[in-house]
Amino acid sequence: MFQDALKDAQVRVQAALDAAMSDLEGTIAEAMRYTCQGGKRLRAFLAMESARLHGVEPDQADRVAAAIEAIHAYSLVHDDLPCMDDDDLRRGNPTVHIKWDEAVAVLTGDALQTLAFDILSDRRTGDAEIQAALVSTLAKASGAQGMVLGQMLDIEAETAGSPLNLEQITRLQAGKTGALIEWSACAGAIMARADPAPLRQYAQALGLAFQIADDILDIEGDAEKAGKRLQKDEDAGKATFVSLLGLEGAKVRAKSLVEEAEAALAPYGEEAHNLKAAARFVISRDA
Ligand code: IPE
Ligand code: IPE
Ligand code: MG
Ligand code: MG
Ligand code: MG
Repeated sequence: MFQDALKDAQVRVQAALDAAMSDLEGTIAEAMRYTCQGGKRLRAFLAMESARLHGVEPDQADRVAAAIEAIHAYSLVHDDLPCMDDDDLRRGNPTVHIKWDEAVAVLTGDALQTLAFDILSDRRTGDAEIQAALVSTLAKASGAQGMVLGQMLDIEAETAGSPLNLEQITRLQAGKTGALIEWSACAGAIMARADPAPLRQYAQALGLAFQIADDILDIEGDAEKAGKRLQKDEDAGKATFVSLLGLEGAKVRAKSLVEEAEAALAPYGEEAHNLKAAARFVISRDA
């Protein structure tokens, strides 16, 4: 059931992204389309489920899902740059700066970011008030108090004199991974002018569990399945729950976060079963 819903989200968001880029031409357009292929589409799935729970039209949900996947794709292109994590493989393919060059990768990320706001600020996404709410909340989730903040803390931690403590790592991960996941899960509530609080609580636990699983995969995962280079975090001096709690400690923490996420869905009853399954999926995935 969850796997079917995830598959459906993958197909729908790809169509929405293709449609949003259909008029674009040239090298950056080509690199944007390349970047927007593949991936699990977890953020798209969360946005679509959140929309469904709130009775939002699927066409509008698909646009919001495309916007968040465009922002996420931008964050990956920049995350892989030589000045960041210096990776040559993403989603099983050469990264953009390897396939093209660094200038193309920087500009592709920039263009994907603006594409996301272009998709949101359109009457097909919602009325003017909803457009403004989506744009403003996504800007905050992506920027200097969200994903970008987390990415900077991640880089600063590599050269910090002493290891980060639990509170600092939690803040780092809540930014770099949590903020976009939280926005995805809250998007449907924002579109329906409903209270996003329970979904926010769900997503905060889910986002942390998701990044812990990513950090565990870096150690124990299969690079072929993950489609990216693994066993890099320790040498790079990354601050992760694994570096702090050890592998077993991190697994225990991830599991309890999944339970926390599931419990937060109580107000939605049986309707939220796919979101519950998604929480279990994030710590059992191999990619
Ligand atoms: C990878 O995100 C980067 C992190 C925030 C850990 P995903 O694991 O969701 O990547 P895709 O979209 O499935 O490729
Ligand atoms: C990336 O985190 C987070 C963002 C892109 C915002 P990681 O650096 O751990 O992701 P991977 O392991 O390269 O996918
Ligand atoms: Mg990184
Ligand atoms: Mg990385
Ligand atoms: Mg990682």
